[in-house]
Amino acid sequence: MDIRILGSEKEIGAAAGRLYVDFINANPTCVLGFATGASPVPTYDYIAQSCRQGKVSLKGVSTFNLDEYCDLPRDHKNSYFTFMCENLFSRTDIDMANVDFLDGNADPDEESARYAAAIKAKGGIDIQLLGIGRNGHIAFNEPGDKFTDEAWRVALTQSTIDANSIYFDDIPMPRYAITMGIGSIMRSKKIIMIATGASKAEAVKNMIKGPVTPACPASILQQHSDVTVFLDPAAAALL
Ligand code: GLP
Repeated sequence: MDIRILGSEKEIGAAAGRLYVDFINANPTCVLGFATGASPVPTYDYIAQSCRQGKVSLKGVSTFNLDEYCDLPRDHKNSYFTFMCENLFSRTDIDMANVDFLDGNADPDEESARYAAAIKAKGGIDIQLLGIGRNGHIAFNEPGDKFTDEAWRVALTQSTIDANSIYFDDIPMPRYAITMGIGSIMRSKKIIMIATGASKAEAVKNMIKGPVTPACPASILQQHSDVTVFLDPAAAALL
């Protein structure tokens, strides 16, 4: 793993954002896997700003997102689809026909097969962006007793519900989500992980220094050959 510790969230956003801008300019029809949560927002800001300034175009890019809540309308303000539209897509020239998203209201098995086929048809994901949960989850793959493969419907853990319910002020946070599996994430050609803040320090330590175990799903990244991890000093404190 290529571990880069930078001074602030903004510096991380600029460094990761630059990496995307350069990659898209070199590969205008690339396939990108995106993530939600607070961690990637400065990176999305950088990409959107670069697009506005004419330094990059997302017109030819295809995207897949990691996960989506179940039992929540796609146009709800807290859906991950809405999050991506607000934080990135609507701020760029991306063609929404090239944006694919897991449907949290579809039959999970059929949706999983559809998503796997769609990713394969595009030639796989070139760069997958990841955050990490406080319990070491990636996407919504919660700690468990085995590593998952393709997309699946997951019952969220209390740790994740506690972390994410702050965003739900009108309805209770959904208890289920559909998420790309660990196998689908590991098949990405390159992975970029962003973790900031003291609440991630323990998970980051387990991911990098701990054993590879489904009890810390992010630890599987030790077995991927091209992972870049961006950390701020607080998230790196236990390394
Ligand atoms: C959610 C998402 C993850 C994300 C995690 C951390 O659970 N499903 O993909 O990595 O939150 O989010 P944040 O970056 O807001 O800490």
